[in-house]
Amino acid sequence: MSLNLSRVEPFAQGGNRLCFVHPDDQNRCVKVRRPDFTLEDRRRKKGFPKNLKPLSSFDDNAEEYRVMKQLYSRFGSALYEHVSNCFGFEDTDMGKGLVSDLIRDNAQNVSHTLKQYIWDNGYTDDCKRSVNQFCGYWEALGIPSRDLLLHNIVAQMDAEGCIVRLVVIDGLGSSSMFPNWMLPTSFFKKKAKRKTENLRHRIELLLQDREKGGVFPGYHGLLIHDGAPSDKA
Ligand SMILES: Nc1ncnc2c1ncn2[C@@H]1O[C@H](COP(=O)(O)OP(=O)(O)OP(=O)(O)O)[C@@H](O)[C@H]1O
Ligand SMILES: [Mg+2]
Repeated sequence: MSLNLSRVEPFAQGGNRLCFVHPDDQNRCVKVRRPDFTLEDRRRKKGFPKNLKPLSSFDDNAEEYRVMKQLYSRFGSALYEHVSNCFGFEDTDMGKGLVSDLIRDNAQNVSHTLKQYIWDNGYTDDCKRSVNQFCGYWEALGIPSRDLLLHNIVAQMDAEGCIVRLVVIDGLGSSSMFPNWMLPTSFFKKKAKRKTENLRHRIELLLQDREKGGVFPGYHGLLIHDGAPSDKA
């Protein structure tokens, strides 16, 4: 049966997708395309020559699922230490929805993005430790990804408000990425190191913005609501 999402408020939205708490499982989320930003809109925005590619290549839900399956076959369950698990598609009244693990804090609210954490708290020792641990893991495994953006990583907190782990929730797919697994591991490790260096650089830039005061940059990385489970069940 198709999931009803159109009358529910999403807990977050990105540039491409709306994210809902799964109506039947508080620990999963369902991501659908934003109705106000269709695949056609996305293709148009790319400009020449990328707009010559087939429409299906702009579907990041399909791309994400394809890449997640590939990554799982290479890294096994170690992947889920820092990447949210992806379970495939379910029909919804807003089109096909990609279902994945919803990352929640111990207090049961949906975890905040790393961008929001750093904006609210600064680069705390706890956060530095988590970033170092995450980067070490990413480099050791050599996980291929697009750029590691601060709004595509969430910081999961324990009951004491300390970060348990950073989890990548988006940004693993890319239409131009066909990793050739025959290449040596050192190739992937080097690439992953470039991504973690770039992540650290983005943190520096965010901290500089924060120093200047003002408002949170953009809407990416802020939650619409905290997705706390309702107690009507
Ligand atoms: N599995 C998850 N657990 C917790 N929060 C999530 C999860 N997936 C998404 N979010 C929240 O929803 C926001 C938007 O999700 P997502 O990044 O998947 O959308 P998108 O449209 O693909 O983003 P982009 O603008 O990067 O293309 C994230 O920034 C994050 O705050
Ligand atoms: Mg995103």
